[in-house]
Amino acid sequence: QAGVFTYDPGFTSTASCESTITYIDGEEGVLTHRGYPIGDLAGKSHYLEVCYLLLYGTLPTATELETFETTITRHTMLHEQMATFFRGFRRDAHPMAIMVGVVGAMSAFYHDSTDINDPLQREIASHRLIAKMPTIAAMAYKYTIGQPFVSPRNDLDYASNFLRMCFAVPAEDYEVNPILSRAMDRIFTLHADHEQNASTSTVRLASSSGANPFACIAAGIACLWGPAHGGANQACLEMLKEIGSVDRIPEFIARAKDKSDPFRLMGFGHRVYKNMDPRATVMKQSADEVLELLGVDDNPLLQVASELERIALSDPYFKEKKLFPNVDFYSGIILEAMGFPTSMFTPIFAMSRTVGWISQWKEQLSDPGHKIGRPRQLYLGEDVRAYTDIENR
Ligand code: SDX
Repeated sequence: QAGVFTYDPGFTSTASCESTITYIDGEEGVLTHRGYPIGDLAGKSHYLEVCYLLLYGTLPTATELETFETTITRHTMLHEQMATFFRGFRRDAHPMAIMVGVVGAMSAFYHDSTDINDPLQREIASHRLIAKMPTIAAMAYKYTIGQPFVSPRNDLDYASNFLRMCFAVPAEDYEVNPILSRAMDRIFTLHADHEQNASTSTVRLASSSGANPFACIAAGIACLWGPAHGGANQACLEMLKEIGSVDRIPEFIARAKDKSDPFRLMGFGHRVYKNMDPRATVMKQSADEVLELLGVDDNPLLQVASELERIALSDPYFKEKKLFPNVDFYSGIILEAMGFPTSMFTPIFAMSRTVGWISQWKEQLSDPGHKIGRPRQLYLGEDVRAYTDIENR
């Protein structure tokens, strides 16, 4: 029983944990963070305010928000020696491979925020990770395209800083388009947290062993990379490009329904949502706005995506299986229109989800009864048997 929610999910006995951070009603397509519906937060709030809400449980006062934003802004630079770390990667490394490595390595550079038993160190680690993830993601992008790193600036907001670190070059000035910055910030908000998804559960499991915060977040990044999870935004755009035109949609719908074909509609379906993912609704509105602003609202990929959604949602198979677009279905279209390569889609998801991972990591550690995660198994193997010498096998 949680407030207005007559909450009887029917899985109390199998729930992996108790949490007060995010609530999802998959049947109704409801998503709230600390009780606030995602549609309100995406429309009225902004990412760093949502970070404060996820971390501390309440919307900040103006003073609290200013203090928090200043703290984050003033920790966006990375230890200069970490730039050397980047230069150890091949230039064609996937940015997610670089992020997993660099974030894990942060525990080798930031020793004063690795002791999980010290509340102050937990706080410093939380702020460092939220502040530095955009810098790390942007540096991973710049490194893979052979351009010089661009340092963060303290006079820019979080999303504008990220766009500038990705797209500015020393040879010319770079002006951040405020509408693109707003769309970028909204994408961060839509990906901030999502209850006990695979990567968040990975972070909680890692944190239950007492691993340092950087190691736990690196584990979450590694898990998010999979195409069934955070890698779906990259896979979805690649699928839309493979479909290419609306007349080829029936061929791919048929493949998605064919059990003998491993093909799945990327960006469709969800372990929990059996209704429209509320994030997808906001993401589609954002896609329409950004593409219109950029003068590419006749973008063929958006046309294929809209028609694919229309056909799938009217198809009895998808209705019966309760398959709807999820958060990844439209995000790739926006990100590509902004100028990002598909390889940067999941790093942007990872950046956004860092606050969710950290909030849940802190909640896991604050639970006095928390024990090391130790899932059990159902053994279906051989009975006990005697060892056979090799000459008798
Ligand atoms: C994210 O957990 C989270 O919260 C994750 C996330 C987050 O914010 O952290 O929301 C982010 O990971 C979103 C999901 C992104 N992944 C994709 O878009 C990849 C494509 N989607 C599928 O791989 C799939 O939908 C899953 C993995 C997401 C869910 O798979 P399930 O658990 O099998 O889904 P289901 O039980 O609802 O499936 C019911 C049926 C099954 O067929 P049957 O076994 O009943 O015959 O529908 C089929 C599935 O095989 N099905 C699909 C399908 N998704 C499920 N068929 C075709 N295309 C699809 N996309």
